[in-house]
Amino acid sequence: MLEIELCKVKMRNPSMLASGIMGTTASSLNWAIRSGAGAVVTKSFGLEPNEGYPNPTTIEVTGGILNAIGLSNPGVDEFSKELEKVDKSVPIIASIVGASAEEFSQIAGRIEPLVDLIELNVSCPHAQEGLGASIGQDPLFTSEIVKSVKKTVNCPVIVKLTPNVTDIVEIAVSSQMAGCDALTLINSLGPGMRIDIDTANPILYNKSGGLSGPAIKPIALRCIYDVYEAVKVPIIGVGGITDYRDAVEAIFAGAKCVQIGTAIMYKGMDVFKDISSGLEKFMFKKEYESIDEMVGKAHS
Ligand SMILES: Cc1cc2nc3c(=O)[nH]c(=O)nc-3n(C[C@H](O)[C@H](O)[C@H](O)COP(=O)(O)O)c2cc1C
Repeated sequence: MLEIELCKVKMRNPSMLASGIMGTTASSLNWAIRSGAGAVVTKSFGLEPNEGYPNPTTIEVTGGILNAIGLSNPGVDEFSKELEKVDKSVPIIASIVGASAEEFSQIAGRIEPLVDLIELNVSCPHAQEGLGASIGQDPLFTSEIVKSVKKTVNCPVIVKLTPNVTDIVEIAVSSQMAGCDALTLINSLGPGMRIDIDTANPILYNKSGGLSGPAIKPIALRCIYDVYEAVKVPIIGVGGITDYRDAVEAIFAGAKCVQIGTAIMYKGMDVFKDISSGLEKFMFKKEYESIDEMVGKAHS
């Protein structure tokens, strides 16, 4: 009863590994799959290798972490070799990043044979100029990318949105109009900062970074809730989901499935099995027969 279909792709349960956390190699993706993830999303990768920022790239804050990794990745050619080694027993989602519609489409075309779905990361709050949230803050630019990628590939295309906008619903609606098949909400919040009080310097090399973890869950839920009322495409909820209760909240707000990121740093890969077994018991107790029955329940 945990099974769902996302854009006609079957998942054994509604939990997914979120992009950027342990999704950089075939062995870490396979580890998440063995640990019970219903699907896995890769770390975002681009056309060319990107070193990202020097350390420190992450720092703990109350209720989560700040990260400014700077989208470090080995580029599509190297990443393709990793993807060839990934266990295909669950859906594999490639998260891709680029600076133009042309670049996104080139990567999408090259990676499509190795994956089931593609997630467009137009929402990183700490990427180098041109690669990050600035794209996802512009509905026209985002739509141009979606249209171009949809012309290039046949697999479902997901757009991952940033909460760092005045009106996330506007970007969600325009992405849907451009033809996306699903939306992932939300990427990390901010950017935010911490200062070392001994040296009086910002702690992160990049000075600021995206906030993730339990602290952003209320923002994620609000984004999912508002966007659910305005779109027809399925929503993948992400942001602070740490246990089955958080997953239920996201599903009731309107998410069809959920991604788990920072919680892996707190709980390890066991988090996937914990969420699935908690969800199953909750559904039994409340007499829900399917996840679909629960999606958007907070709106009725
Ligand atoms: C260390 C780290 C790296 C991340 N890298 C990416 C990335 O490469 N691409 C992306 O779309 N999101 C990335 N994210 C954002 C997560 O996928 C997720 O949207 C965000 O962390 C909120 O979920 P969480 O609170 O469960 O971590 C990253 C997050 C963290 C903490």
